[in-house]
Amino acid sequence: MEKTVPPHVPRELVRDFDMYGYPANEWDVPQNLYRQVRAEGMPEIFWSPYNGGHWVITRASIIEEVIDNSDHFSNRYVGLPKHLNPARIFRPFQQDPPDSVPFRHLLAGLLTKQIVAAGRDAVQELAIELIEGFKPRGQCEFVIDFAQHLPIRMFMAIMSIPEEDRKPLLAIAEKISRPKYPDQRLEGYAEMDDYSLKLIEERRDGPEDDIVAKLCRAEIDGRKLNEEELLGVLGLLLIAGLDTVSGMLGFFVQHLARHPEQRREIRDNPDLIPNAVEELLRRYAHTTLTREVRVDLNLRGVEMREGDMMAVPLVLHNVDEEKFEDPFRVDFTREQLSSNVAFGGKVHRCLGALLARTELRVFLEEWLNRIPEFSIAPGAQPKINSRVTTINQVLPLVWETGT
Ligand code: HEM
Repeated sequence: MEKTVPPHVPRELVRDFDMYGYPANEWDVPQNLYRQVRAEGMPEIFWSPYNGGHWVITRASIIEEVIDNSDHFSNRYVGLPKHLNPARIFRPFQQDPPDSVPFRHLLAGLLTKQIVAAGRDAVQELAIELIEGFKPRGQCEFVIDFAQHLPIRMFMAIMSIPEEDRKPLLAIAEKISRPKYPDQRLEGYAEMDDYSLKLIEERRDGPEDDIVAKLCRAEIDGRKLNEEELLGVLGLLLIAGLDTVSGMLGFFVQHLARHPEQRREIRDNPDLIPNAVEELLRRYAHTTLTREVRVDLNLRGVEMREGDMMAVPLVLHNVDEEKFEDPFRVDFTREQLSSNVAFGGKVHRCLGALLARTELRVFLEEWLNRIPEFSIAPGAQPKINSRVTTINQVLPLVWETGT
């Protein structure tokens, strides 16, 4: 892979570290990453020459400073390298304040508690149907058989999309999340636009009261959203909840598969489920944000230039011992949970956090009720895909039938 080190980057801050290619020979991926970037001699901020070249931020306090300072650090590019970003601007995700603010208000007003409650029933129904379907087999491929179905169903529920669209939507999501060749992701985005356009056409002037209809009627600064803006918002609603939730489900299940005492703790004390969700989100935060430096500046003694890219792995915040005591230990009674940044900082904080937590809670409730004892299939090797979101691509599970 080509290595990029611009002249303003001091040699002593360059490390041979590929953000998207770290070792995946253990199940505990975030811990592998952490070990490498906190090894002796690693600076708090260093330059990785891979993926177009970018800074890597490794400490909780600097991560907070960066993700909450949109005057200096822009969200325009949401992956590395810069030039591989999709042409479509996802709104408000790839905007900076003040442009992002009205789009955030709009979405926050649409993703209401009532909408999430409607989605919960649909997700719960699907979770039960899927689990009961494969339970008698004593095994499943968790990612394919379970994890990637839940977010699509949640999306369908909040957008009032009919059941017959599930398969085509799953196919589009698959192209975007796991393209078989590089251009397939772009094909997926194009198909998603076509699908969104169809929804817009159908509901623009109709009597419906669903999210698409509300978006079509919504106004920003006294005018309706144009087609490009509508597609940017609808597209974000679909992709923001896909790999994020299914990837997190993967980390939840692999942790519980390897820690029988903790899955029994949850099963025996269902009241712990909300805390368990927060603690596992903290420990396995799997999103690596990117930011573009907007002006020449000095960050903690490091000279950065306008246009430099930065990678901000949120897990490095959540497992920093300056922030959390004994940070690698998973403890469902931990108290300082709210300061974890699994859902981001203030400026772009996740607008789907309630939806995501709901899906994760439903999973713990329904799975542990039905398959309380399970493990990772003997001999299975982790296969990790790491981009904006780090996910387990395969997760074969086994259990004894009749449990
Ligand atoms: C476990 C699951 C999820 C995680 C860990 C997660 C994480 C995040 C993070 C870290 C951000 C901040 C991005 C930044 O600062 O650049 C974000 C933004 C966002 N998320 Fe999530 N997310 C999850 C699920 C969802 C779901 C289910 C939805 C529903 C549609 C969603 C919708 C959004 C939206 C719309 C934004 C953009 C907010 C903005 O740019 O102002 N997310 N998410």
